[in-house]
Amino acid sequence: MNFDLARVRAEFPILSREVNGQPLAYLDSAASAQKPLSVIQAESHFYQHGYAAVHRGIHTLSAEATTDMENVRNQAARFLNAASQDEIIFVKGTTEGINLVANSWGSSQLKAGDNIVITQMEHHANIVPWQMLAQRVGAEIRVLPLTTDGELDTGQLASLIDDRTRLFAVTQVSNVLGTINPVKALVAQAKAAGIVTLIDGAQAVMHHKVDVQDIDCDFYVFSGHKLYGPTGIGVLYARKALQEQMPPWEGGGSMIANVVLPEGTTFNSAPWRFEAGSPNTGGIIGLGAALTWVETLGLDNIQQREQMLMRYALDKLASVPDLIVYGPQRRAGVIAFNLGNHHAYDVGSFLDQYGIAIRTGHHCAMPLMSHYAVPAMCRASFALYNSEEEADRLVAGLIRIHRLLGG
Ligand SMILES: Cc1ncc(COP(=O)(O)O)c(C=O)c1O
Repeated sequence: MNFDLARVRAEFPILSREVNGQPLAYLDSAASAQKPLSVIQAESHFYQHGYAAVHRGIHTLSAEATTDMENVRNQAARFLNAASQDEIIFVKGTTEGINLVANSWGSSQLKAGDNIVITQMEHHANIVPWQMLAQRVGAEIRVLPLTTDGELDTGQLASLIDDRTRLFAVTQVSNVLGTINPVKALVAQAKAAGIVTLIDGAQAVMHHKVDVQDIDCDFYVFSGHKLYGPTGIGVLYARKALQEQMPPWEGGGSMIANVVLPEGTTFNSAPWRFEAGSPNTGGIIGLGAALTWVETLGLDNIQQREQMLMRYALDKLASVPDLIVYGPQRRAGVIAFNLGNHHAYDVGSFLDQYGIAIRTGHHCAMPLMSHYAVPAMCRASFALYNSEEEADRLVAGLIRIHRLLGG
């Protein structure tokens, strides 16, 4: 791979700033990735030269903005290999996408006595909306457990599903452990039992190529901000056949065909039926630029680089005394750890003093913390723009903290 780290880093102005008098080592891209200039400039260019309300105006600017937005829908469909751009619904992010499915498809299709299967490694965004749905309709939540090394205990799925299982929702990649789940096989197993499937792709789309037709899932969701794009924009892929069963979720402008009083309003076709109100057009334009950026670099190249960095860091971390690393060997560019019995917040605060940004806490995955019987973990996550030197600084920082605090 012909990879020029200096050139890639130059596209991210924020990476050249200092934090606490040290060069920034940003190892928190799994929480949110930094943005390349092309994304920042695309959004800025739109506001400076192309901005107008979409879908509403006959004037040139409005028509252009609408075309630009719909082009990104097309681009997102190609990015996920969806069968049609009508299967792409713009949402605020993964959280809103899952809530949309729970409120629209879930509330209309589930009944008392049905059950939903999720897993113990889910982000709260892929737990709480299902719990709320289960409470509304009187359904049951069932949980696929983990093995000791942080893989899904897939052998147990068969015993969890029965003829009242309506949905299986699972993350493609764990935000804490980096575990890469065999979603294609899991979806096939669920589908064979007639179960609808949702994949949380928040931690997957930036690491490797995703093909929703190959996975054969019914819903797939991701956030723009973890994919080098803006915050406040994400994508919900919803299979056409499922959309037909889905009533609107939010009501308002743009999602209607005809509004009559006192009742009798009819709704727009999908995907617009699910996009009430003025969209985050600037965010959508930025997302388009992020997809272009990622595709220009090539997801295979990105994956190769991240895997190399993650392996490099894992090898070096073995020299840190009393370091506990969680998760399986095969993983995305994410490393969760604790340093002896020291609280993750203490370790994270020391690293921040050295200019190293990592994530600490429960990572919105409290059930996963329970599995390991810890209140919190540290997590270093690697993106394309990170360097071996930054991994070395993480290791040196941890050794220094261990020296200061003891084991
Ligand atoms: C696996 C996973 N799912 C869902 C989310 C929620 O994403 P957002 O906050 O962008 O909606 C995250 C964010 O950390 C995540 O890592």
